Amino acid sequence: MSQKKRILSGMRPTGPLHLGNLLGALANWVQMQDEYDCFFFIADWHALTSDYDDTDPIEGYKKEIMIDWLSAGLTPEKSTLFVQSLVKEHAELFLILSMITPVPWLERNPTYKEQIGQLSNKDLSTFGFLGYPVLQAADIIMYKPYGVPVGVDQAPHVEITREIARRFNYYYGNVFPEPEVILTETPKILGTDRRKMSKSYDNAIFLSNSPDTISNKVAGMITDPQRARRTDPGNPEVCNVFDFHKLYTAPDIVTEIDQQCRTAGIGCVECKHKMAQNLIRALEPIREKRAYYEARPELVEQIMIEGSNKARETAKQTMADVRAAIKV
Ligand code: TRP
Ligand code: SF4
Repeated sequence: MSQKKRILSGMRPTGPLHLGNLLGALANWVQMQDEYDCFFFIADWHALTSDYDDTDPIEGYKKEIMIDWLSAGLTPEKSTLFVQSLVKEHAELFLILSMITPVPWLERNPTYKEQIGQLSNKDLSTFGFLGYPVLQAADIIMYKPYGVPVGVDQAPHVEITREIARRFNYYYGNVFPEPEVILTETPKILGTDRRKMSKSYDNAIFLSNSPDTISNKVAGMITDPQRARRTDPGNPEVCNVFDFHKLYTAPDIVTEIDQQCRTAGIGCVECKHKMAQNLIRALEPIREKRAYYEARPELVEQIMIEGSNKARETAKQTMADVRAAIKV
């Protein structure tokens, strides 16, 4: 038996993964694989909560994301990698938890309020969208993890999960430990237009992008907006390209660029070119592994199925405990 503490986290298959996803979650997960007993899953039912009107892309995104994961270094040898909809127990636990979850807990969920406001072009007044955190609670407590690594935006969902677990235990006896929030630092990295990196803003650099595409995207990045001409000195502190340099360029060169930018000793075109080269090099191992998995779709499929079978073993045991506790 593994003595490692268990953690679990998931991603919705709403598009291929970009640098923001890599730095904000995936790279962290890869690191955690040695220290923890890890469960990582693709939350495809959760994708339906907002994208129920156009489900065609979900299947493709699932495969893309699994390839992104494997390319970045998640491996079925260390972690249980699975797909939510292949473990039907999640649906059963969701149903049971929905019986004990007060609707006001869901209505005051900050993510819910925010999204209802933001995605005003979509009809999100559905039962499933309101119940999003209940399904997420089921995903989590099913595996009785010690903690859930998430970004700040997901912390309220883990809080609701803790409350739901507590309520379940109160009514039916101690079945579920309350999972900890393991906050992931979100790095300061923005999209090419200086907004938050997001597929829907068309400002993202994807893990699957070719070197040429990366070069082109970097060339189009917005820099210090005050620096209009090559002869104007720049301010690296407000420049997004410089934030990328801090992540992908050797520290002594970063210091050099800082100086040269402030004295107009380097132009943005050259500066971007240097950064793009380093970024392309940093992503090279990921690109290589991607090519391997892209050439082996049956292997990717098999990893998803075997991981889901493994996850289901644990899920079945939990559901046996749950049924015994609620006597239904
Ligand atoms: N809501 C998460 C997101 O949008 C995805 C998710 C679903 C999840 N179930 C989860 C994350 C359970 C952690 C644990 O990113
Ligand atoms: Fe940004 Fe580099 Fe241009 Fe300075 S030289 S503004 S750091 S891109």
